[in-house]
Amino acid sequence: MLYVRKAGVVGAGTMGAAIAEVLAFNEIPVVLKDVREDLVQRGLNRVRGFTEELLRFQEARLEKERERLEGMGLKLTPEQEGILQERLKPKFSRARAEQIVHRVEGTTEDSAFRDVDLVVEAAFESFPVKRGIFEALDRILPEHAVLATNTSSLSVTRLARGLLHARNSLVTHFFNPPTTLPLVEVVAGVDTREDVVTDTLEFLQGLRNHRYPLVPIRVKEVPGFLVNRLLIPMLNEACFALDEGVVSARELDQALKAGAGLPMGPLELADMIGLDVCLEVAQILQTEYGDPKYRPSLALKRLVDAGHLGRKTGRGFYDYA
Ligand SMILES: NC(=O)c1ccc[n+]([C@@H]2O[C@H](COP(=O)([O-])OP(=O)(O)OC[C@H]3O[C@@H](n4cnc5c(N)ncnc54)[C@H](O)[C@@H]3O)[C@@H](O)[C@H]2O)c1
Repeated sequence: MLYVRKAGVVGAGTMGAAIAEVLAFNEIPVVLKDVREDLVQRGLNRVRGFTEELLRFQEARLEKERERLEGMGLKLTPEQEGILQERLKPKFSRARAEQIVHRVEGTTEDSAFRDVDLVVEAAFESFPVKRGIFEALDRILPEHAVLATNTSSLSVTRLARGLLHARNSLVTHFFNPPTTLPLVEVVAGVDTREDVVTDTLEFLQGLRNHRYPLVPIRVKEVPGFLVNRLLIPMLNEACFALDEGVVSARELDQALKAGAGLPMGPLELADMIGLDVCLEVAQILQTEYGDPKYRPSLALKRLVDAGHLGRKTGRGFYDYA
């Protein structure tokens, strides 16, 4: 059994800050590390931002539901109104938001990880960077600690090779944003101990994010794991279709939403993920599987070359200015 009295997160960026918030939301004290104090502060501000977002979401629920019901032409009786108010009463208070923020402690020092039971590495997607972090953590972590990485594409077997914690290492691949998407792909390396995998799955199963209980699934160590292996080729194919002038970007997204029941169109989703990330994963799938079917589209390459990476730069397949 994995009992996490204190957790660590390395990298206070998009994913690291959100993973730290999810852990703190589940009442686990967290140390959040980045390389510089300003980056740590930015991460802590992100944590606060997530709790503010949840407060706003909860406060708006009642009004949204009223609008939805009115839109359907329904008029509530005072009794029904009372039930609705009770049901949709905000369950998350400002006091709780403050507790979450205070549960996350920022640091630039590895020594802060001396007493953690689990650490999730969420720094840049680069083998040398992640290996450096794994080596530093290996020296400082307690013997029993689980060393997890949020990598989207790197091999945890290679990342942990030869380390004291090699048998305690695995991938916990959260999805963006972890505060609302519940899936976590759990991937063991060649040397990972079986009880470390089952304990981590069980631990994650006991957590929830702002909307749902987490959904950890065990996936074999293959390039792209499961979701990216299916998703990225689909997004890439959408780029090919766009390049061939089959339809416009808007029509392509509308078609997939209206015809395949997707909540977001592929190009909207690619813009949200980041086109550089999509391109990188497509290239990894192509190299690792050696199959030309994973070849990234020119449309995607051109946009990345131009620095139009999607929402994060204000322009991708769509303009966000
Ligand atoms: N963004 C996504 O949609 C997404 C989804 C799933 C998984 N991932 C994976 O999560 C990881 C992080 O991605 P991100 O989007 O949060 O990146 P990001 O660039 O937003 O954040 C990375 C953070 O790590 C910090 N960092 C770099 N080197 C460090 C070091 N040696 N020690 C401590 N901190 C260090 C950086 O300063 C930065 O703040 C990557 O492995 C990525 O593949 C990303």
